Amino acid sequence: MKPILVTGGAGFIGSNFVLNWLRGEASPVVNLDKLTYAGNLANLASVARDSRHVFVQGDIADRELVSSLLKTHQPRAIIHFAAESHVDRSIHSADDFIRTNIEGTFHLLQSAREYVETLSADERKQFRFLHISTDEVYGSLGPNDPAFTETTPYAPNSPYAASKASADHMVRAFHHTYGLPVLTTNCSNNYGAYQFPEKMIPLMICNGVTQKRLPVYGDGMNVRDWLHVNDHCAAIVTVLERGVVGETYNIGGNCEKSNLDVVHEICAILSELRPGPGYESLIEFVKDRPGHDRRYAVDTTKIRRELGWAPQENFTSGLRKTVAWYLENQAWIENVTSGAYRDWLSLQYK
Ligand code: NAD
Ligand code: TYD
Repeated sequence: MKPILVTGGAGFIGSNFVLNWLRGEASPVVNLDKLTYAGNLANLASVARDSRHVFVQGDIADRELVSSLLKTHQPRAIIHFAAESHVDRSIHSADDFIRTNIEGTFHLLQSAREYVETLSADERKQFRFLHISTDEVYGSLGPNDPAFTETTPYAPNSPYAASKASADHMVRAFHHTYGLPVLTTNCSNNYGAYQFPEKMIPLMICNGVTQKRLPVYGDGMNVRDWLHVNDHCAAIVTVLERGVVGETYNIGGNCEKSNLDVVHEICAILSELRPGPGYESLIEFVKDRPGHDRRYAVDTTKIRRELGWAPQENFTSGLRKTVAWYLENQAWIENVTSGAYRDWLSLQYK
């Protein structure tokens, strides 16, 4: 059985994808990850001895390495998760975002294109390059604006969003110019196990548990659409198997929430699962993120109608499971929150 090549499979969504894939599919996974601060092999501990999982530490921009992996393993698809993914870090310094999200994606596309030329006509017909992107490329919505559709014009506002938008355009260009069989997905905010605690939901859980302040940016009324990571992974498999080459698919949870509401829900779950001092009293409004997008909402009509995907998890039970996971996995938290993570916290929340 031909493997798939996953990039960024030691990160949050990538590792959930690899774990889910190996639970449900017999075909192997070659997992290429640079292991930046966000990549963590502990996420993949349960498949460390699974012969269907081949982990390779390396950079997507390393054409020699990627070409040799493609030649050796002959994957039927590349699922491209690898990226710098944290908006606040992109505001402090965008260099790595340009290098990985834009240049890295370009090099990966170029390697894929060269590889596809070596395939038989039949293999070429089967091959897919699936690029994982974000709803943030569409910019910010007003309170009454309709949700983002696949035809909403791109208007990225943060350096992170701009780097992902740039990658999306390059993926599109490789299809139109060279006929590379690409698919792109644009998903809303994910939550679930193994998310690095710099992102809002795990940060609030970890801070709550250790009785640190819960830093809400601005007035807390910014709205995000939330999707459980397992639903995102299922959507990716659906697009891989049934998506139309050259098309883009929006993915979302139809679950708009203000940040403050999410933080209140986390406090309520923590009070129940770990009764203790008032978690709510830890909430603190802090300086807003520069250029902070006010609202994201995703119209998922296309993927629902054309491919038959729909999310299975609702936010209340998904968030509960997520909080429980972080409470049960203190060792994982300690492992990932190294000295470098503590440096980040003191830079961002000084
Ligand atoms: P993450 O930051 O948790 O993980 C990124 C992974 O990529 C890490 O394992 C890191 O080591 C690896 N990586 C970084 N640079 C690399 C390079 N040059 N070569 C090889 N590997 C490299 O990110 P995530 O939250 O899992 O996001 C995965 C993808 O999904 C990203 O493309 C992101 O833009 C997209 N996305 C994320 C969300 C979300 O809510 N987290 C929502 C929509 C889309
Ligand atoms: P984040 O998890 O960084 O995802 P994104 O910026 O990609 O949407 O942030 C989610 C929301 O939470 C966003 O509106 C910013 C806000 N936020 C806070 O209020 N406090 C925080 O400490 C963090 C990290 C985020």
